Amino acid sequence: MNAWPPRSPLAELTPAEVRLVSAAKAVRERAYAPYSKFRVGAAIETEHGGVFTGANVENASYGATVCAERAAIFCMVAAGEHNVTRVAVYAEGPELSMPCGMCRQVLIEHAPKAEVIVAGPSGHRKTTLAALMPEPFVFEGAE
Ligand code: THU
Repeated sequence: MNAWPPRSPLAELTPAEVRLVSAAKAVRERAYAPYSKFRVGAAIETEHGGVFTGANVENASYGATVCAERAAIFCMVAAGEHNVTRVAVYAEGPELSMPCGMCRQVLIEHAPKAEVIVAGPSGHRKTTLAALMPEPFVFEGAE
């Protein structure tokens, strides 16, 4: 796996991808994670080139915690955007931190064709949201 940040021009990330992961890494510093101590940053890029970031916000009532990915999506929607082209997630742990199931469900509604880059200090992985969330719940109305 390539080291992060990639040092070699042969690293498989484009400059735009590196910028998005860097934004996720930077916003991670602002995570509020006093309970798990596991800080996560997410950055999403929209069809119009906008970049929105989010960090996990935990709560003493644990279930009220919001993940970084959803925080970024909420920020984007509040800004009036909807179509995500790329998602970057940055966390530091023994393994790359993949988006949780709830975040995949929320992401796919706004990012069905998005590329996903998951990164950490020792490397990164590129995939797609379609691969991570093959059969999402879709609400088509009752009856
Ligand atoms: N977390 C995220 O921010 N994103 C995910 O996709 C999975 C988990 C956060 C939530 C919680 O604050 C911490 O990681 C530990 O679960």
